[in-house]
Amino acid sequence: MKILAFAGSNSTVSINKKLVTFASTFFSENEVEILDLNDYEMPIYKREIELEAGIPQSAKDFAAKIDASDLILLSTPENNGNFPAVFKNLMDWMSRIKGRKIFGEKSMFLMATSDGARGGASVLEIAQKRFPFDGAQVLEVFSLPKFRESFEEGKGIIDEEKKAEFEEKVAVVKTHFA
Ligand SMILES: Cc1cc2nc3c(=O)[nH]c(=O)nc-3n(C[C@H](O)[C@H](O)[C@H](O)COP(=O)(O)O)c2cc1C
Repeated sequence: MKILAFAGSNSTVSINKKLVTFASTFFSENEVEILDLNDYEMPIYKREIELEAGIPQSAKDFAAKIDASDLILLSTPENNGNFPAVFKNLMDWMSRIKGRKIFGEKSMFLMATSDGARGGASVLEIAQKRFPFDGAQVLEVFSLPKFRESFEEGKGIIDEEKKAEFEEKVAVVKTHFA
């Protein structure tokens, strides 16, 4: 099984990338690839760019990575209750690839973390409702609030309750591929 992991962030110190990288260690018996949105830069979607230059190669390359995977591990930040612009832009461009649903009918373990107490609850609600229409089968959803207190580099999730919840969800995701 091929695992594709990425955060919906372009921060070079992204806490969501830290969470998704931690999540990927639970799938280390598989081939795991971790992508960084900074390696897939593209202009903000604009009709004229699409008409004149077509869909950016980076959007096509990212879509190809999704197509080559069996399971997507995604952790997204929440910006003003919604997706960060960089991630929404990537999704918008990928959706313009002919005949494509953004997530290519792949299974997904959907996560979010933030330093706040809600742990990206709003963006998770939006993603959970919307992603099935975008070709993602969301197997499980996990939120990690108060990242700074709940997560430690090298150790991962240190909040015992959250760690147990996370491990249960990983187990459920794995049953889909047993
Ligand atoms: C423009 C902007 C809006 C934000 N809005 C929210 C929000 O609605 N909810 C939230 O929990 N955090 C919000 N934050 C804080 C982000 O969750 C925080 O920056 C987080 O570290 C981003 O994740 P990352 O490190 O993976 O990029 C916002 C940050 C920015 C810059």
